[in-house]
Amino acid sequence: MNVAVLLLLGLGLLEAEGRCFFNRTQEHCVCYRLSQESLGSIIQCLPASVVEFWGGELERYIDFPINDLDPSAIDMLHSLVIRKIIFGDLLVPEILLARVLRFFSYTQVQELVFESCVFEGRGNWGEMAGKDLPILSLHFHNVTSAPLTGREQDLSSLSSWMETLQDLAVTGSHVTSLPCDIGRVFRALRSLDVAQNSLGDESLMATFCKGAFPQLQVLSLQRNNLTSYHSVCKSVQLLRELQHLDLSQNKLMADPSSSCQWPVSLRIFNLSGTGLDEVLTPLPRSLEVLDMSCNHLHAVDISLSSLKKLFLSQNMLQAVPSIRNCPMLDTLRLDNNSITELPWDEVKLLEHLRDVAAAGNPYNCSCSGAGGLQVLAGMGHLGQGWPQDYRCHSPPHYQGRLVKDVPVSVLQCNSAAVIAPVCIVLLLLGMAGAVCLVRSRPRLIRPCCRA
Ligand SMILES: *[C@@H]1O[C@H](CO)[C@@H](O)[C@H](O)[C@H]1NC(C)=O
Ligand SMILES: *[C@@H]1O[C@H](CO)[C@@H](O)[C@H](O)[C@H]1NC(C)=O
Ligand SMILES: *[C@@H]1O[C@H](CO)[C@@H](O)[C@H](O)[C@H]1NC(C)=O
Ligand SMILES: *[C@@H]1O[C@H](CO)[C@@H](O)[C@H](O)[C@H]1NC(C)=O
Ligand SMILES: *[C@@H]1O[C@H](CO)[C@@H](O)[C@H](O)[C@H]1NC(C)=O
Ligand SMILES: *[C@@H]1O[C@H](CO)[C@@H](O)[C@H](O)[C@H]1NC(C)=O
Repeated sequence: MNVAVLLLLGLGLLEAEGRCFFNRTQEHCVCYRLSQESLGSIIQCLPASVVEFWGGELERYIDFPINDLDPSAIDMLHSLVIRKIIFGDLLVPEILLARVLRFFSYTQVQELVFESCVFEGRGNWGEMAGKDLPILSLHFHNVTSAPLTGREQDLSSLSSWMETLQDLAVTGSHVTSLPCDIGRVFRALRSLDVAQNSLGDESLMATFCKGAFPQLQVLSLQRNNLTSYHSVCKSVQLLRELQHLDLSQNKLMADPSSSCQWPVSLRIFNLSGTGLDEVLTPLPRSLEVLDMSCNHLHAVDISLSSLKKLFLSQNMLQAVPSIRNCPMLDTLRLDNNSITELPWDEVKLLEHLRDVAAAGNPYNCSCSGAGGLQVLAGMGHLGQGWPQDYRCHSPPHYQGRLVKDVPVSVLQCNSAAVIAPVCIVLLLLGMAGAVCLVRSRPRLIRPCCRA
């Protein structure tokens, strides 16, 4: 035991004293629990493009004298190749952050991430007024801080930087509201991720007020406290550039009659795991990707002329959805439903369909029901899961067998198409037989008599 600990200490993996580890191939440096004594270890991170700092006590440096930098220090910061910095498991005094952040203007750091951090107190952001920062992407996950309301002054000091920020994430941080003013500052923001918070219908309406996030293209509201489809639609209505909206894992309710129109720019819509038992209306008109997996849908009948990808896995569908009015569809996911038949004549109508997955359904293999699957598999259009996850559920003598192994004999199945020609053939044979019978009567009769 002691030997093992000594060995690990020797390898620098279990030091009480913090230090940095640099991986040259990945240009990645990770520092644990840096203290005043081990701060020198940072030197080895200088050639890294990504640097992480985990643990340690930043609050000790609150009173550290941070003066303006001399030209050689500025040159040094300029020459660093660091593009991304991650701070984790830290208590961050905002005063310190405000004093340090301005030095980032001399670097080329584009991404800043704070994970499991607690922001303490309030900093004086006045010095940041008019300062531009190279940071384009700012992520906070599992952080706590003083409320954001009533901080208009701080926001305006930071505004010349925030006006250029493109990507902001504040996830898993119990956020209940984002004031309207914030959105008006983020004029260039393309992507906003506020997943795993406690945003409700009401607060959403205030967040996306007039003039907020005018360039926003991607918005994730995954796993919040949203309930009204109509109200979400109303809230995001002003986002003219919105292309991708993720509402997954909220418990949405159908509103009796919603007349709200979604932004026409919307292409990707995620309603996965939202407790739906019917398709909500209206759907955004120009959708290309619609994810309604993990719901309680019994039937789906949609008509979206641009739709390319439809995800309906983990629902209660008993039949292949009506998708004839989605002519552009190339991808269809139907895994884990209650579908008994995937008939070929249904599927072949969609000429662009290239990628189908429908594993984990209780197929009826008594007739052509699973024939579509065999044809799709033959064309190489069935995704992973074929053949092992496609099994017959009925009739009893096929139960548990792979759909692949069922002989889909046309004679057995498509009765209308098969019986007619068979009748004609029989009829012709019958006529021929009758002619023969007449012509060869004597010979025919003779054996009978003999017998
Ligand atoms: C650096 O990262 C690569 C890729 O993950 C890994 O294979 C290698 O072992 C790492 N090197 C060190 C010294 O940790
Ligand atoms: C979230 O951050 C706190 C510290 O603020 C930490 O104790 C906790 O373990 C973190 N939770 C997760 C899931 O990372
Ligand atoms: C979610 O919203 C409901 C009302 O819509 C409210 O009663 C509840 O407290 C909210 N939950 C959270 C975690 O904010
Ligand atoms: C929808 O969101 C879920 C998580 O809630 C995710 O797993 C899934 O990949 C998303 N779908 C699309 C099409 O992005
Ligand atoms: C279908 O269900 C099985 C078993 O519960 C699960 O392993 C699989 O991931 C599911 N597939 C999809 C696409 O949801
Ligand atoms: C399976 O399909 C056959 C022929 O279409 C039908 O007669 C039978 O009732 C179906 N069985 C089940 C369990 O749906």
